[in-house]
Amino acid sequence: MSVRRLAEESVQPDAFAFNRANGAWAKKKIKDYPKGREASAVIPLLMRAQEQEGWVTKAAIEHIGEMLDMPLIRVLEVATFYTQFQLAPVGKRAHIQVCGTTPCMLRGAGEIMDVCKAKISPNPFEVTEDGKLSWEEVECQGACVNAPMVMIFKDSYEDLTPAQMEHIIDRFAAGKGDEITPGPQIDRIFSAPEGGLTSLTGKPVAAKRKASARATAESAKVAAPKKPAVKKAPAKAAGLIGSNAAKLAAKPKADVKAAPKKAAAVKTAGPERLKKPNGKADDLKLISGVGPKLEQTLNGLGFWHFAQIAKWKKADVAIVDDQLSFKGRIERDEWIKQAKVLAKKVK
Ligand code: FES
Repeated sequence: MSVRRLAEESVQPDAFAFNRANGAWAKKKIKDYPKGREASAVIPLLMRAQEQEGWVTKAAIEHIGEMLDMPLIRVLEVATFYTQFQLAPVGKRAHIQVCGTTPCMLRGAGEIMDVCKAKISPNPFEVTEDGKLSWEEVECQGACVNAPMVMIFKDSYEDLTPAQMEHIIDRFAAGKGDEITPGPQIDRIFSAPEGGLTSLTGKPVAAKRKASARATAESAKVAAPKKPAVKKAPAKAAGLIGSNAAKLAAKPKADVKAAPKKAAAVKTAGPERLKKPNGKADDLKLISGVGPKLEQTLNGLGFWHFAQIAKWKKADVAIVDDQLSFKGRIERDEWIKQAKVLAKKVK
């Protein structure tokens, strides 16, 4: 089981700054994310800091928190959760992360760790005297089918035996780690069976299937009666918007007669909706919990302004909730409260 803590104060540097190239890269990376969502750049920035320093220092965590205007605890949560981030100095040539979760353990991860103990250090995170190697135990790395496995920086080495592990460590110690091809170390491609396919080995039947599909289509054409021409209902005439309009437009004429009544019901029963924004639409993404996709959905439903959302009552929330794919989000993220504050700011 991996324990994730920051390194001792004695090894922490006083300060951190990205070098010029990485600083420019970081600024550009932050702009990849929408306004108000800059914190999403935290993982790439932490990774770049690690690539620059060799590990993620406390000073780097603080610096990135300031760059992204994030509370320190939020950056710490990310840095201490993912074992891809090294929180203490590690071997410069290889830091071997041995998966110790059940499938790997059942397939020999214990022996792989014994090799690391013998060749590197009896204890995890102890860097060899020459500073080249270190190791630790981590949780599942998602390659269980090829257990046991290890990660070395960004590459995985799978289907290991103790002898192979020794060989890999020796190659990395000699600065020749690139001689080892990452991935399975036995005769298999990715996670396919060892020695080649054992199923789905028949000849392709695509041509046969195509011919049969063509014949079915031909006979269906002959058998199908002609459909009477149906006029589409004009979407706008019904006074609906978004997906309601689309649904209505697709209905046959007979159904359209009843449409105005239904449209009126939607208009009066639910929250205030607008076919288009009054002037410029508000940036709904500023509401925590609303991303670009959800903003699009809200616009499609007729909501463009914070003021509209700020006016929602409980019944309105239930109606809108039904139309979103994330039920309960409005209440959980307190959209109305947020919208009230934001509506005042845009006045
Ligand atoms: S258990 Fe080791 S990779 Fe999943």
